[in-house]
Amino acid sequence: IEKTFIMVKPDGVKRQVVGDIIDRFERRGFELKGAKLINVPRELAEEHYAEHKERPFFGELVEFITSGPVFAMVWEGENVIKLARIMMGATKPEESQPGTIRGDYAVTISENVIHGSDSPASAEREISLWFGEGLA
Ligand code: GTP
Ligand code: MG
Repeated sequence: IEKTFIMVKPDGVKRQVVGDIIDRFERRGFELKGAKLINVPRELAEEHYAEHKERPFFGELVEFITSGPVFAMVWEGENVIKLARIMMGATKPEESQPGTIRGDYAVTISENVIHGSDSPASAEREISLWFGEGLA
């Protein structure tokens, strides 16, 4: 059985869609294994998005993630890593379908409401990074 790391980004917390996002995951049948509202230290944001360090939008990305509290979660269930990505919708707003979280809430590529691990390796890395070895 798989676990994945899901984070409601600062725009989602501000817009009060945390409850809706938890509801969508619960309705799908996934189990919440950990959750916390936190102000993200810069070092944690940089480590989380380390794969994008060389991208032109990296500075903006770190600014955004540290701009207000995020709601970090670990969800467990059958194929949850891939299914969560489908529930989230595409990164680009013109590609995220209505009915998905981003398709319902986001119109910009940078303020796109939610993050979810993109592979088993990312999920393991991100769960340890945000919640420590206990949950991984
Ligand atoms: P995450 O779940 O946040 O990792 O999103 P993703 O996996 O759908 O996309 P990716 O990992 O490729 O990019 C990480 C984040 O960087 C995205 O969610 C966007 O917020 C941001 N991002 C990606 N591409 C761009 C871009 O071209 N411009 C800007 N400003 N931000 C971008
Ligand atoms: Mg990503």
